[in-house]
Amino acid sequence: MPSVFITRKIPKAGINLLKERGYSVDVSEKDGVLTKEELIAALRGKNYDAVLCLLTDKIDDEVFEAVGQNCKIFANYAVGFDNINLLAAKNRGMMITNTPGVLTETVAEHTFALVLAIAHRIAESDRFTRNGKYVGWQPMLFLGTDVSKKTLGIVGLGRIGSRVAYHAVKGFGARVIYHDLQRNEKFEKEFSAEYRKKLEDLLKEADYVSLHVPLLPATRHLLNAERLKLMKPTAYLINTSRGSVIDEKALVEALRAKIIKGAALDVFENEPALAEGLAQLDNVILTPHIASATEETRAKMAELAADNIIAALEGQTPPNLVDA
Ligand code: GLV
Ligand code: GLV
Repeated sequence: MPSVFITRKIPKAGINLLKERGYSVDVSEKDGVLTKEELIAALRGKNYDAVLCLLTDKIDDEVFEAVGQNCKIFANYAVGFDNINLLAAKNRGMMITNTPGVLTETVAEHTFALVLAIAHRIAESDRFTRNGKYVGWQPMLFLGTDVSKKTLGIVGLGRIGSRVAYHAVKGFGARVIYHDLQRNEKFEKEFSAEYRKKLEDLLKEADYVSLHVPLLPATRHLLNAERLKLMKPTAYLINTSRGSVIDEKALVEALRAKIIKGAALDVFENEPALAEGLAQLDNVILTPHIASATEETRAKMAELAADNIIAALEGQTPPNLVDA
């Protein structure tokens, strides 16, 4: 009977699919992220056929060595897979999969929730109201910024970036400019969007900059001190991709110095830690890496990760195979 190890409790929709196939499924009982040592200890000598892992698990050659040659696949329960050493996987003939598509809409919704929340000062004014500071309507209380007719700059026009553009244009009448390695003329036509070949040009022009690139050596600290300075002092930065795409320390300094107006972040450079001073700033919104966290989407991610495992163990090509 094929056996699968799951590194942490996930929605049962996915676990059920594996069990229905007759697989034996072990779910880590620890209420937290397994340390590298714990993960290795959980895998060694067990001859698992597949592992379902999370973005909080660092998967490298030592882990592949521990799981042994029986294992065919590590199915990541995330669209991002920067937590996995793809080269090591390739060298060991290990298949790696992710969960694209099923979370696009939810992450785009969360991104737009952050855009609206930072523009309309939702978190700040909520703190004010619940703290009993509201003493009556005022003409100048918590003046925010419109989204309609403003320019949204999308950095990384993949599935999620495109869907954020859809909300901006169709829902809010904003204008979209985008930066990506590839130009997409079909997208430009559909959304009256404009391409900016140079990221710097997008940063100088956008009122909202939203990041949708994967974390790669080339995108680490893409938004550094120098590039943050190119943004307008009235602009906002939104990040639902990976924390390390921004130099978080430089961002705190830029926010303090009012180089930009605010930031809304779902991801952080050293999760769960926050850069010093970040949480003390009023012009930021911080959510704990929950952009894909809806009941519906997390169940679909669990099912998709299970589907990838089932395909791999039945000798088929998994639907979401990631290339090294
Ligand atoms: C979440 O961050 C994901 O990559 O799915
Ligand atoms: C990820 O799903 C992306 O393409 O944005």
